[in-house]
Amino acid sequence: MKVILLGTAAGGGCPQWNCACRLCTAGLPPRTQDCVAISAGDGWYLLNCSPDIRAQILATPELRAGPGPREIPLRGVLLTDAELDHTLGLLMLRESGGLPVWAPPAVLTALSPVSSVVDSYGGWTWSSVVDLPGLRVEVLPVSDKRPKYASASDGPWVVAYRITDPATGGVLVYAPCLRSWPAGFDEFVADASLVLLDGTFYAPDEMAGVGGPDQLAMGHLPITAGLPRVAGRRWAFTHVNNTNPVLDPASPEHAAVLAAGAALPPDGARFTL
Ligand code: MLT
Ligand code: MN
Ligand code: ZN
Repeated sequence: MKVILLGTAAGGGCPQWNCACRLCTAGLPPRTQDCVAISAGDGWYLLNCSPDIRAQILATPELRAGPGPREIPLRGVLLTDAELDHTLGLLMLRESGGLPVWAPPAVLTALSPVSSVVDSYGGWTWSSVVDLPGLRVEVLPVSDKRPKYASASDGPWVVAYRITDPATGGVLVYAPCLRSWPAGFDEFVADASLVLLDGTFYAPDEMAGVGGPDQLAMGHLPITAGLPRVAGRRWAFTHVNNTNPVLDPASPEHAAVLAAGAALPPDGARFTL
């Protein structure tokens, strides 16, 4: 299975247009919003669909159109949640001719304004039963954090995916939004070749600097809470917020993540599992 990290930042990206914090003004390499592409050989599937999807596709030769004039290699989209940084790209893909989209039932219901818009362009299907030809997908509900815009209903609102390529035995776990270390997560990541983990915030008081809510209220376990558990596996943090000091390669926090054996891959990072 091939894995490409199309975007590695949390909502807003880095720099974020309305933010003048230290990291947004530091001239760091820009990061677009969290989105992953995977392939077991026949076409590509997106894990989440960021508002930056157009630029992400154009920056990725494997995802560009061709060889026919309107042929595209995308075969479907798998959503972990209904947050706008993970779903607004569906509107950008309206010209695709339609794609299958898989997500938990509450997420599909919340996205009905989006699905009704893109359905007008034809060919879209929406299902909570994941079916990726050539790949085995397991789903773990990880939190009930509901997006601000969505009306109350039963979750799960956020899931993680464990995707296995039966041909190679490679296993990807994608868990960009964790409110806690969920029940069953240790078993879910067992023997994974790569775990993409929620790296939104480094420490529990980080949003105080920009006047935001606290991290757990935002549904994100700080890296400091997860880091002691990552030893000995192949872990990479993604969905990194622009307030997170790990973005600066010269920071002690960045060094601490690497010292724990985890990675902070940039946009465009590729893995073969
Ligand atoms: C999140 O990951 O917490 C959300 O994307 C936040 C947001 O965009 O409102
Ligand atoms: Mn987000
Ligand atoms: Zn900022």
